[in-house]
Parts: sequence; C-alpha cells; structure tokens
Amino acid sequence: MVRPRVLVAFGSKSGGTAGIAQWIGAAMAADGLDVVVLPADKARSVAGFDAVVLGGALYANRWHADARRFTRRHSKRLRGRPVWVFSSGPLDRTAEERDIGPVPGAAKAVERLAARGHITFGGRLGPDSQGWIAKKMVQNGRGGDFRAPDLVEAWAHGLAAQIKGQAGHSRHDAGSGAAT
Ligand SMILES: Cc1cc2nc3c(=O)[nH]c(=O)nc-3n(C[C@H](O)[C@H](O)[C@H](O)COP(=O)(O)O)c2cc1C
Repeated sequence: MVRPRVLVAFGSKSGGTAGIAQWIGAAMAADGLDVVVLPADKARSVAGFDAVVLGGALYANRWHADARRFTRRHSKRLRGRPVWVFSSGPLDRTAEERDIGPVPGAAKAVERLAARGHITFGGRLGPDSQGWIAKKMVQNGRGGDFRAPDLVEAWAHGLAAQIKGQAGHSRHDAGSGAAT
C-alpha cells in the first residue's frame, strides 16, 4: 500500500514552533504516514504531497511571515487537498483552557487554503530566544515552555486518521492529479 505523503511546514523565529512541527511529524509518522517536516521558506514545492499542515509563530498578533508567504505561494496548487493550520503561541496555559481563534494572517490562510481546521498551541520563550524584546521578556519572568506535547500529538493523530481515511477512498481515482 502506498503511504500518504504529508508536508508539515512551519514559520518559526526561535525554534518553538519548529519543535511543534517536529512533534506533529513524529506522531503522523508513527501512524504510518510518510512525513516531511520543513521550514516554510524551504518548502519550495507541494508536489507529491497528499496533505499539508502549516504552522506559524505569533509575534505581536501577527502570523510568521514565512507561513503567510507559503500560503500566497501555494494556495492555488493546494486547492482540493486536505490542509490544516496551527499557530503558536500564548506564553501561558490559555491555549489549553480554551479555543484561541486565528490572528488575521492565519485566518487568511484558513480561507485561502480552505483549511479543515485551525488550532492555537501554547508557545515557548527561552533564554535562547531571538531578539532583544524576547530577552527582556525572559528577564522579566515571562519566559517558559507552554507547548503541551500531548495535546499536539493528540491533534496530529486525529489528522493522521483523517488523511488515512481519505487516502483509502481517493487512491482509487487513479490520475485524479490530486498530488501534482
Ligand atoms: C516580541 C514577542 C511578541 C509576541 N507576541 C505574541 C502574540 O501576539 N501572541 C501570542 O500568542 N504570542 C506572542 N509571543 C509568544 C511567541 O509566539 C512564542 O514565544 C512562540 O513560541 C515563538 O515561536 P518560535 O520560537 O517558533 O519563534 C510573542 C513573543 C515575543 C518575544
């Protein structure tokens, strides 16, 4: 059986969102999917992928520029293919307590990619974070890791089940061109 191929692309400045993307990729690979995890600016083509997960870090209420650029670049080609979007993230536990809707850039991605869902995960701010504002925030006690790997993995397993279910149906349409 051909394993469905999934691209997990992310926009990350200080590595927290990259880590979430890796957890998603590992959970999906454990479910038998063929997964590639790449920074969004390195994901030049979406050819050959049956599904895409796109994530972006949040800075001053904006979705990471690489994730926004990926959306603009690939929206036409991704039409009709399953896409999910995630954001990261609040430096507290609010993302675990309630659903946090997408900021405008992520909402645009949901719309343009006809995404099947969006989720906000908690973020991470460590002493290694990039930028003087980030370092100041750490000094002021606002740092920490709020990413909750168990929630990320549970979300990824849910997506994997949907992708596998869909592949079971659409693989019969030989030549449908879904993955070009
Ligand atoms: C200057 C600055 C601004 C931030 N603005 C937001 C924000 O508007 N909303 C939010 O949820 N998190 C915000 N955060 C938290 C980041 O999204 C969080 O640290 C995230 O994990 C960073 O991802 P990255 O490590 O992949 O770059 C901000 C962090 C910094 C340093």
